[in-house]
Amino acid sequence: MQYSQKVLDHFMHPHNVGKMENPDASATEGSPSCGDQVTVYLKVNKDDMTIEDISFLSYGCASNIATASIITDLAKGKSLEDAKKITWRDAMEALDGLPPVKVHCSVLAADTLQTAISNYEIANGLKEVPNFSKDTILDELKKIIYPQVGEDIVSLKMVKYVGFSDGEVLIDLNIMSFDTWRENVVEEIHEHLEKYPEVKNIQINFP
Ligand code: FES
Repeated sequence: MQYSQKVLDHFMHPHNVGKMENPDASATEGSPSCGDQVTVYLKVNKDDMTIEDISFLSYGCASNIATASIITDLAKGKSLEDAKKITWRDAMEALDGLPPVKVHCSVLAADTLQTAISNYEIANGLKEVPNFSKDTILDELKKIIYPQVGEDIVSLKMVKYVGFSDGEVLIDLNIMSFDTWRENVVEEIHEHLEKYPEVKNIQINFP
């Protein structure tokens, strides 16, 4: 597997690594596709609402460490509003790319940062706990990477329909039966959605 020099640098000499004492917020997320985890800790300057300090702990692969390192670099010193715009694509770009089968590692790092920010906002009355809806499902599907090309299944137009009613999730997925990644994607959809207590059943249809 070919890693960029930047990935190797951040893997061997990660920035902002370590547990933070008394953080203002934190989040731990796991990647359904591999079981690896990242924790992100935040200290927020309440005067100007910037990320004063940020650190992470990784329980995962080389790109898990590298993407968490770069995402914490990208977020440090930014206002919460600007940090909320940081995506896995920014992490990928800052690392000069990742092999397609490792793109999900950057999704995990970005997701964990966003959850830590969201946890801060909820704990400080800056936002309400979001209601589960069709948009929640779509947001989760956008985190699922089709490993062959390293792009998410929504951008690749593999998701044709999403419905949600009475705990039932209905998804029309445009992936053919001969596609070797189909089972992998289906498994990930289940793992991403089953963590929500609102989801009672998931039905996935194919062409
Ligand atoms: Fe698990 Fe990279 S985060 S393989």
